[in-house]
Amino acid sequence: MLELKPPLVLLSGPAGFGEYLKLMDHRYVGGVLLKTVTLHPKEGNPTPRMADSDFYVINRIGLENPGIHAFVENVPELPVPMIASLGGDSFEEYLEVARVFKKVADRFHAVEFNFSCPNVKEGGLSIVKNAEEWKKLLNTLRKELPDSFLIAKVGVEGIFVEDAAEFVMKTGWDGITLVNTVRGLHFEKDTMILGGLSGPVLKPIALRAVYEVKKRFPELFVIASGGVYSVKDAEEFLKVGADVIGVGSALFKDPGVVEEIGKYLLEVKR
Ligand SMILES: Cc1cc2nc3c(=O)[nH]c(=O)nc-3n(C[C@H](O)[C@H](O)[C@H](O)COP(=O)(O)O)c2cc1C
Repeated sequence: MLELKPPLVLLSGPAGFGEYLKLMDHRYVGGVLLKTVTLHPKEGNPTPRMADSDFYVINRIGLENPGIHAFVENVPELPVPMIASLGGDSFEEYLEVARVFKKVADRFHAVEFNFSCPNVKEGGLSIVKNAEEWKKLLNTLRKELPDSFLIAKVGVEGIFVEDAAEFVMKTGWDGITLVNTVRGLHFEKDTMILGGLSGPVLKPIALRAVYEVKKRFPELFVIASGGVYSVKDAEEFLKVGADVIGVGSALFKDPGVVEEIGKYLLEVKR
């Protein structure tokens, strides 16, 4: 089991490779989900790559990362438990990334596979659209990393989360992160930004996803991801059964909220 104290993680992407930890008291952070790493380095998309409003953040970063080989040579040293996030552009790439990651797997409390990035052409959420192929991939990755706590990150596009959760359970994975960003379009003056929506607008969607999955599979470990900006939001996710509360976009607005939520979770989850 993945025991994080408090059960709060900084989510993949907004948390970078742990830079935000400088701004907060580590006693209130249960773990950090590092930025998704792919087989080859990625420069990401051209700017503008992000915008925000009161209700949402939109991003089209495009999985900028140094690639798995550079990552394993330079694993960050952080003062809190680390969870890696791995991605790929195809079946073979996911598998290759897992093989390279194996060398450093024992330095991580868990590993999350990103099956839901909306900002890349291949891989990301396109992989779940072919259910049979995805199930085969889940089985293959489980065999490749037999000792790791394996978490699948899925979104609400391409598949129903309940169906995704069933595949995740049946292939012997340990947990699921719900949800990733949802494809959106934002106008910045006359420039269109086609990216993934996160932040407050995502909360009702993420709450429903966690609720549906926990109702059907109470034993599946669930990390909540979507619109946690306050203690009240965290409280609602606990009510629908989340095991861990993830904070992402809120870090851009006020990293201090992590301490407030962390304190609250330490109280209720003693
Ligand atoms: C700028 C930015 C970059 C992101 N990059 C990643 C990523 O690399 N891997 C991933 O799995 N999710 C990524 N996400 C999605 C977040 O991890 C999270 O699932 C989503 O933002 C919803 O949570 P939030 O509303 O608390 O931000 C990113 C989100 C943002 C805003």
